[in-house]
Amino acid sequence: MSTTRTHRVAVIGGDGIGPEVTAEALRVVAALGVNLDTTPFDLGAARFLKDGFVLDDSTLEQLRGYDAIMLGAIGPALGDSRIAPGTLERGLLLRLRFDLDLYINYRPFRGVAGSLAEGCEFAIVRENTEGPYAGEGGVLRYGTAHEIATQGSVNTRFGVERCVRFAFERASQLSEPRVTLVHKTNVLTFAGDLWQRVTNELAQQFDSVEVNYHHVDAACIYLVESPQRYGIIVTDNLFGDILSDLAGAVSGGIGYAASANLNPARSGPSLFEPVHGAAHDIAGTGSANPLAAISSAALMLDHLEEHDAAARLSRAVADFDAAVRDCRTTDVTDELIRRL
Ligand code: IPM
Ligand code: MN
Repeated sequence: MSTTRTHRVAVIGGDGIGPEVTAEALRVVAALGVNLDTTPFDLGAARFLKDGFVLDDSTLEQLRGYDAIMLGAIGPALGDSRIAPGTLERGLLLRLRFDLDLYINYRPFRGVAGSLAEGCEFAIVRENTEGPYAGEGGVLRYGTAHEIATQGSVNTRFGVERCVRFAFERASQLSEPRVTLVHKTNVLTFAGDLWQRVTNELAQQFDSVEVNYHHVDAACIYLVESPQRYGIIVTDNLFGDILSDLAGAVSGGIGYAASANLNPARSGPSLFEPVHGAAHDIAGTGSANPLAAISSAALMLDHLEEHDAAARLSRAVADFDAAVRDCRTTDVTDELIRRL
């Protein structure tokens, strides 16, 4: 059962396969009977190449007024040197994450049949507004022999606390409640110590949750060799970025990996996007896996409190996965809709 509400959703299809997979996700949501009132926003590499526009204050304010934002993928084709690195990442994607205070990047994984993580379900809770992504640093004496580049990592007690708390809350809903803090406390002693102390403090409030700690390098081995040891992984922005690509690979491929950039305080819309990029090499071939975008839509439905529709969709995707490996994009969606 879906609710009778209509949700206003801003849709940024973006570049490469982004618009294709987003269209499939919208098709599935419609088949579930959930009412969306969508508005397309032309943003991304193609737009930038057309007229130099990335994102401005007034567009950001417009986006703030929606119930949710769906994003396909943003980015130029590999080797396209017309767009300087960071232009769209900092100017668009990170600006949305930071300015809309999307402080959690929630990335659930379910190992599909035949993958290294077959049968495992776990999630990465990635801090999404601080760490090395905060952009602290700069360059001195640019281009000279005495050049200095610094890139700091910002870790506030406020930011770490709200992230770790979210991880504990999610973990406490699991049948086997487990949180693993992943960091590099043996080298990044200042930030690592803050993350560890905050985790220890919050553990006192969540008696039912088993708490572990892994160094990030060891976590890379465990994700490949024994992913079943994880429930919720909580980690900083950069470690979370890297680990989620690895988690995607061991779970069957990045084409399945969904994400929710969440503002759990609900002071504005949250943003839902596949973990994968624009994949220009396969754009327009009809061979992109739409399941990451579709699973991201399931996360959106859950956030919009369309819990029944979200659960139906997640179940249908879970029953499905490996079977789609060599299917066409639209065939995957057709079959999924048939099974709903
Ligand atoms: C991701 C992406 C982004 C990130 C890039 C495109 C800025 O890799 O969502 O994981 O690093 O967060
Ligand atoms: Mn990434």
